[in-house]
Amino acid sequence: SEISNREQKEKVADKIAERVRSGDVIGVGSGSTSYLALLAISKKVKEQKLDVLAIPTSHEVSLACSIVGLKTTTLQNARPDWSFDGADEVDPQKGLIKGRGGAMFAEKLVIKSSPENYILVDSSKFVSYLGEKFAVPVEVDPRAINLVETELLKLGAREIDLRLAKGKDGPIISEAGNLIVDVRFNKITSEYEKEIKAIPGVIESGLFIGYEVEILTT
Ligand code: A5P
Repeated sequence: SEISNREQKEKVADKIAERVRSGDVIGVGSGSTSYLALLAISKKVKEQKLDVLAIPTSHEVSLACSIVGLKTTTLQNARPDWSFDGADEVDPQKGLIKGRGGAMFAEKLVIKSSPENYILVDSSKFVSYLGEKFAVPVEVDPRAINLVETELLKLGAREIDLRLAKGKDGPIISEAGNLIVDVRFNKITSEYEKEIKAIPGVIESGLFIGYEVEILTT
């Protein structure tokens, strides 16, 4: 029988909590699935009095950690033993689109720094090719917005939308003070992650192609 996305997310959250051992330094992704995983982990840490450090990937996660009482550290101070995160799309080669929450820069730093990474997804995230449902988020230095737009069009972008903030008259500003554009391409090739990153002014994109990740689902 079909179970809801929320129930699926709670199931994978419990699965990831099983992996937690005392002494672990854990990279914590952003988004609703990661949040449920964080809750399950903090419950286990409290019940079993484990010694765990979290490396948050956004202010939201950092705040959530302090609310649930999980100690945190940073990538400057520690290397993650493993990490978990969500995704917006997962293709058959384990390629990902991330960044609906705009946290893909910090998430990529954590995933690249971590020897083991678990991507927690419900069944709605599986696609046959990247870009099937989601646009690719790209974080851009505000001074470079016109340049980046021109270069993305040359790369084959067919739609570029500046991400606007709810409840504020203007664009979303990332934690690093940058803009985010959501970009649709006709076809995303495996070279796109590098090509987008090579445009001056691009901080990071939400394409994660060829990373060491294990997909965890129900
Ligand atoms: C945050 O910037 C994203 O990369 C999230 O990991 C991604 O959008 C998945 O979020 P949900 O778990 O809420 O679907």
